Amino acid sequence: MTHFTAVIGLQWGDEGKGKVVDHLAGRFDWVVRFQGGANAGHTVRIGDREHIFHLLPSGLLRKGKRGAIGAGVVLDPEVLLEEIAQVEALSEPLQGRLFIDYRTALVLPFHKFEDTWEESLKGGVGSTRRGIGPAYRDRYARIALRVGDLEHENWLAERLRESLDFNNEILAARYGKPPLDLKEIYLSLQRFAQAVRPYLADVPVLLQEAGRKGERVLLEGAQGTFLDIFYGTYPYVTSSHTVAGGAAIGAGIPPHQIREVIGVSKAYTTRVGRGPFPTELKDEMGQYLRKQGGEFGATTGRPRRCGWLDLPLLRYAALLNGATGIVITKLDVLSGLDRVKVAVAYELDGQRLEHPPAQTPLLYHVRPIYEEFLGWDPFPPPRRFEDLPQAAQTYLRFIEEALGVPVIGVSYGKEREELIWLQ
Ligand code: IMP
Repeated sequence: MTHFTAVIGLQWGDEGKGKVVDHLAGRFDWVVRFQGGANAGHTVRIGDREHIFHLLPSGLLRKGKRGAIGAGVVLDPEVLLEEIAQVEALSEPLQGRLFIDYRTALVLPFHKFEDTWEESLKGGVGSTRRGIGPAYRDRYARIALRVGDLEHENWLAERLRESLDFNNEILAARYGKPPLDLKEIYLSLQRFAQAVRPYLADVPVLLQEAGRKGERVLLEGAQGTFLDIFYGTYPYVTSSHTVAGGAAIGAGIPPHQIREVIGVSKAYTTRVGRGPFPTELKDEMGQYLRKQGGEFGATTGRPRRCGWLDLPLLRYAALLNGATGIVITKLDVLSGLDRVKVAVAYELDGQRLEHPPAQTPLLYHVRPIYEEFLGWDPFPPPRRFEDLPQAAQTYLRFIEEALGVPVIGVSYGKEREELIWLQ
C-alpha cells in the first residue's frame, strides 16, 4: 500500500529541515517539495562544502535520488536554472531525476519588484523579497502563469497580457513605477521554456506509480507551521500551506496516504521577520543563542530573533500536523549553559493556556510560564541517545512527554553525520 512521509517544520522555519531531509533521503527514493518557493533556504553540509537549496528538493545531492516540485510551489525561473547548474556541478545530471508539475505557478519579475517595494513601504511583514506573496496572490486571483503554459505560445501571450495588465496597474498606482514591457518578459519566458521542458511532468501520476512500485517518497516542507497562511501568526506568515495538510494538496496525493509526519524543531526557538514571539529573548541570552547557533537567515542573511523553546506552540504544531515523531535539532547550541528554560504554558489575564491563542493580537500579550532545567557541558559525538549528557536526556524526555510525541532523532551539529536516530 502506497504511503508517504512528510517532514514539517514545527516552529517559524529554519528548524534544520534540510539536514533532516538530506539524512532521510538515504532511505527514500524520492524527495518532493510541495509548497513555498525560493524563500526557503535548506542548508546541507557535506564535509567542508555547504549547499543551500532554495527551490529544488534537498536530497538531490545524493546520487540516484529523484526529486519533484509539486503544483503547490511557486517557481522562480532564474533561481531554478541556477540551482540546477549548482546541483549538477556537485552531483549528477538532473534530467530524468527532476520532475516539475505542469501546474506549478511562476514567480515573474514584477512579483519580486512588488514584494521588495511593499517591504519598503510601512507595513511589510518582513518577507524574503522573493515575490512569494504576490505570486500566490495571482495564483488565487486566477491570473498566474503556470509552467505548463510555456508550451503553448498563443495561450502564454494571452495569459501574460492579462497578468501584466493587472500588475502594471499595481506598479503604477501603488509604487509609482513605469510599466514593464510584455515583449521582454515573453522572450525571457520562451528561453526558459526551452530549458525547463525536459523536467515537466504530471507529478501526482508519477508519485502514485512510484508508490505502486514500492518506491519510498519523502515530502519536504519549507518554512514552518507558524508561517502557514491559515494557521500561522497571520498576517506575519508566508503565503502557502506549510502544515502537513498542505503536502496532500501541494504534491497532489490523497491525504490518507501520508502516514508518517516527522516534525522538526530546534532545541530553542527562532523567527525571522515581524510578528509575535512570546519566548523571544531581547537580552544577552538572545544574542548568545544567535551567536552560538549562527542564527542568520540562509536566504537573506538577516539576523534571526532567538528565544527559549515554546511548548504551547509545539503542542499546537503537533496537533495541526499530526506529528508521529519529532527531530530536535541544534541541541549542541544549548551546551555549556548553566540553566536552560522552556515555556511550558502561557498566562493570559490570569488564565493558564496550554495552546497559543488563535487570535494574533492576543499572542503579543501572553506571558510564558517557564520551567528551568540543568544545563549540560559540550559532549563528544554520541552513538546512542544514552550517550548524551544526563541533563540533555532529561530535557529531551521532558519535551517528548509534554507533546505526547516521541523524539525520534537528535541533531547536535552542522555536519551530515552529527545526527542520531532513536528508532
Ligand atoms: P515570504 O515567504 O518571503 O513572503 O515571507 C513571509 C514571512 O515568512 C517573513 O517573516 C519571512 O521571514 C518568513 N519566511 C519565509 N521563508 C522562510 C524560511 O524559509 N525560513 C524562515 N522564515 C521564512
